[in-house]
Amino acid sequence: SEMVYPHQQASNLWTSRMAFILAAAGSAVGLGNIWKFPYITGENGGGAFVLVYLACIFLIGVPVLIAEIMIGRRGGQSPVASMRTLTQTEGTARGWRIIGWNGVVASFLVLSFYAVIGGWALVYIGKAAVGMFAGADAEAIGGQFNNLLANPWELLLWHTAFMAIVVFIVGKGIRSGLEKAVNMLMPLLFLLLIVMVFYAMNSGSFGRAVSFMFSPDFSRLTTEGVLTALGHAAFTLSIGIGVLMAYGSYLPKNINIARTAMTIAVLDTSVALLAGLAIFPLVFANGLETGAGPGLIFVTLPLAFGQMGGGVLFGAIFFALLLVAAITSAISMLEPVVEWLEEHKGANRVKSAVAGGFAAWFIGIGTVLSFNRWSDIHPLGFISMFEDKTVFDLLDFLVSNLMMPLGGLAIALFAGWAIRREGLAEDIGLQGGAYKAFMFVLRFVTPAGIAIVFLYNLV
Ligand code: PFF
Ligand code: NA
Repeated sequence: SEMVYPHQQASNLWTSRMAFILAAAGSAVGLGNIWKFPYITGENGGGAFVLVYLACIFLIGVPVLIAEIMIGRRGGQSPVASMRTLTQTEGTARGWRIIGWNGVVASFLVLSFYAVIGGWALVYIGKAAVGMFAGADAEAIGGQFNNLLANPWELLLWHTAFMAIVVFIVGKGIRSGLEKAVNMLMPLLFLLLIVMVFYAMNSGSFGRAVSFMFSPDFSRLTTEGVLTALGHAAFTLSIGIGVLMAYGSYLPKNINIARTAMTIAVLDTSVALLAGLAIFPLVFANGLETGAGPGLIFVTLPLAFGQMGGGVLFGAIFFALLLVAAITSAISMLEPVVEWLEEHKGANRVKSAVAGGFAAWFIGIGTVLSFNRWSDIHPLGFISMFEDKTVFDLLDFLVSNLMMPLGGLAIALFAGWAIRREGLAEDIGLQGGAYKAFMFVLRFVTPAGIAIVFLYNLV
């Protein structure tokens, strides 16, 4: 009979398909959808970028999502340990273990800057609640945001607060309790986004926004833009980084991975598109820049909250929900690091969470400074592609555009070519033609897609 891995003991398993979807969707839906997707869409010219992004989600993201969860369940342990075991039980080369290590390092690095932006969400709950946006114009609201960025100590304070919340939750092991609460909060976030889209329909330039987002103009898309779209597909689905491998290790055998993965991808994509439809009408109506960068939602949405009835309450609730979404993503990033520390350093959960969180917090100081004291420092400025990238930009590029898609490529190759085929169709939850089509995509389309994007960016 099969060996039973630690995570695959009945007491450790997710209690239902729903519980797993909530955790995985909690990891997926976050700042990536509401903060990052709109601003990188704006920076990369709109429609053509969105089209490439959607293609990346369904031809690359979903197959890797399925493969990663399946590998996690077959391995049944932390990403590093799962990969070590699987290279033995599946009889593959030892080199595949890099997938586990890449995940630990990348998820740790992404947490370092994610917590800084999570801090912004914390600040904006307060700003909204005390009515700082009421009646303010675009200039005043832009000024509020710039003042925040200019103050490293204030950014550090909120970065610290955000990280402390994440460490507390992971250390206490109260993830499952949190997920039950999130059960109600995420549908509320979804609803509030729809309210914002309706608001934008009535008082924004909705038509211009729709054509900006959905009519592709390929002359506005650069090769680096294509890489950014690929990287964001990985970032937004939390793939290629070991997080879903860690979560998948707790998934009961009878749950259909393909269907679950599709549900997560559709949810995540709808949240991102709704965020875009809420924000761009306001950008155009107020004569703002689509390419305004990381501050885009912190300038456009407050403008709307400042003008609509009940905006104080709506605004505070919206940023609170954004915070919850950010926290559920951030706890998933700490998971691979904590599991690794527990297994390899023999530390307990609390110590591992504190150590991992502290180290990520420390690296996060670089991101804090990127928005003020170091805003003119471009560490790789001698390479033309990185000419005007700050420390934050470089970290984001390294993780989102390199480590996550390359981790995804390795996962697709490992699942598509290296591991045993027997039982694979059942493991994934597909049969007959659907399974064959899926395997074709996973083995050829997904790896070729990632490889082509990288080759184009090299030459
Ligand atoms: N998917 C998250 C988001 O869209 O906000 C970000 C993320 C979570 C990235 C977990 C990486 C990760 F490991
Ligand atoms: Na996401």
